Amino acid sequence: MFRFVTAGESHGQALIAWISGVPAGVPIDFEFVQRELHRRQLGYGRGGRQKIEKDRVEFLSGVRHGQTIGAPIALRIDNRDWANWEKALSVENTPNSEGAQRRLTAPRPGHADLAGSMKFNFHDARYILERASARETAARVAAGTIAKLLLRQFECEVLSHVVAVGKARLPRAAAWREIQAVCGDLESPLRCVDAETEAQMKGEVDAVHRAGNTVGGIFEVVAHNVVAGLGSHAQWDEKLDARLAQAVMSIQAVKGVEIGAGIAAATSYGSEVMDEIGYNPTAKQFTRASNRAGGLEGGITNGEDVVVRGYLKPISTLRTPLGTVDMVTKHPVSAAYERSDVCVVPAGGVAGEAMVSIVLAQAMVEKFGGDSLGEMRRNFDGYLRQLKEF
Ligand SMILES: Cc1cc2nc3c(=O)[nH]c(=O)nc-3n(C[C@H](O)[C@H](O)[C@H](O)COP(=O)(O)O)c2cc1C
Repeated sequence: MFRFVTAGESHGQALIAWISGVPAGVPIDFEFVQRELHRRQLGYGRGGRQKIEKDRVEFLSGVRHGQTIGAPIALRIDNRDWANWEKALSVENTPNSEGAQRRLTAPRPGHADLAGSMKFNFHDARYILERASARETAARVAAGTIAKLLLRQFECEVLSHVVAVGKARLPRAAAWREIQAVCGDLESPLRCVDAETEAQMKGEVDAVHRAGNTVGGIFEVVAHNVVAGLGSHAQWDEKLDARLAQAVMSIQAVKGVEIGAGIAAATSYGSEVMDEIGYNPTAKQFTRASNRAGGLEGGITNGEDVVVRGYLKPISTLRTPLGTVDMVTKHPVSAAYERSDVCVVPAGGVAGEAMVSIVLAQAMVEKFGGDSLGEMRRNFDGYLRQLKEF
């Protein structure tokens, strides 16, 4: 089973990703891994943290001589900011002045601060926010690169672009080659495929920046060349659309997930929603004139691109703070402000790519198995022959 977990706090020593169940023999492109981490740090509207952290992944286990060896993979990303937080977050219980501990007793609405403090019985949200922070997405993106490199062996690629920032919204569908181009352009401010819409999106970010406010938006993850037959209709927890929804919903600040044209479908007629089926006898392949289902029917991939959208709420930390209550005194106060992003939709998309890649890699390993890449490849090729003969 392809599994992954992460560890690490936002200002702790490092983030860790642990990945297990990757077949032996998958080549690791280290430059690609670093580039993906860099992509997560980009985007118009990010805060000062991205200038401090220049993320680099260190491989601690599971990869030797440039390829996976079938053993668990451990990855480490150092937090450079740790140097400024060693006292506040010291591991040992060394005597500390109150100030040095950087306690946070004014929980910020929209964060895990209050709910987590009540749950874990701390009158200090510091320990909660350190782990709830989306800095953790760096570890997910690192794990996602392993999934992407496995998928790449089967010609499957996963990319993302930004569909909306605040009220500025891409008015049309994006073609795969446009998404490829915008993902390849590290200078792209908001990874939107349309220049005019991107200018409007930048305007939204500038406006909230000036006003001490924040903005959310929508990213779209597209997985291209996904083999038909991943996931299953047989049990609720085997449905791939449900598994993708959980994976993308788990990203910090994502409050809605859409597969294909799912949201518009709810208020459309049947004739406007289903993708009619054709057949190409030369390619021996079923075809679709549209892909409103987002590549999934009955929880099973149907051979079309898998399209998943993540809906991000605006960032919770506001420079013009919201009202809250001090957890110790119970008096009304202004919510704490910590250096913060004002828009993270492009970065959310990179985290979305990682999560979608991990779910697809899991489904590939489930269906085609194999302890080595060669064994998995044989199983995959046999299945492709079966599809041609179907
Ligand atoms: C890439 C990324 C960066 C984020 N950066 C910030 C930030 O700088 N400030 C902030 O308040 N929230 C930020 N968030 C969102 C919070 O982490 C998130 O809203 C919070 O942990 C509460 O979780 P929930 O919104 O999923 O309920 C970010 C989210 C993502 C995906």
